[in-house]
Amino acid sequence: MTKKLNKLIEKATKAYKNAYAPYSKFNVGAAILDEHDSIHVGCNVENAAYPSGSCAEEQAIGNMIVNGGKIIKDIVVIGKSDMLITPCGACRQRIREFCDKDTLIHICDVDKGYLKSFNLKELLAYSFGPDNL
Ligand code: THU
Repeated sequence: MTKKLNKLIEKATKAYKNAYAPYSKFNVGAAILDEHDSIHVGCNVENAAYPSGSCAEEQAIGNMIVNGGKIIKDIVVIGKSDMLITPCGACRQRIREFCDKDTLIHICDVDKGYLKSFNLKELLAYSFGPDNL
């Protein structure tokens, strides 16, 4: 495992611990490495009005944009589950907006560590993106 991926996992784990998920009790953390080699983190933030909650990836992307990043080179998603925690459909589309051909989505677990990496095409085939407009 590369030093950069280890650092992303470390940052995503910290975000995971700070997640606000009192309703689902399903914490998720995310960490993005952008084109400037800067790291941006996010966690899920739920709400008593359930649809007002947001995903970890969504928060991390917002943090990347506000800090001047434009391209997701790598994104780590981490949680705690028997299954792979892959991004939800809406977050796949959010990642699509800021990816390039090399973007990798790394799925990790707080207990089991690194599990698997996907490219965007595997998660969102025939996607609609900025080039379509
Ligand atoms: N969640 C994420 O933050 N990212 C994902 O990739 C999957 C789901 C959150 C949303 C909600 O707060 C909780 O996990 C259960 O769906």
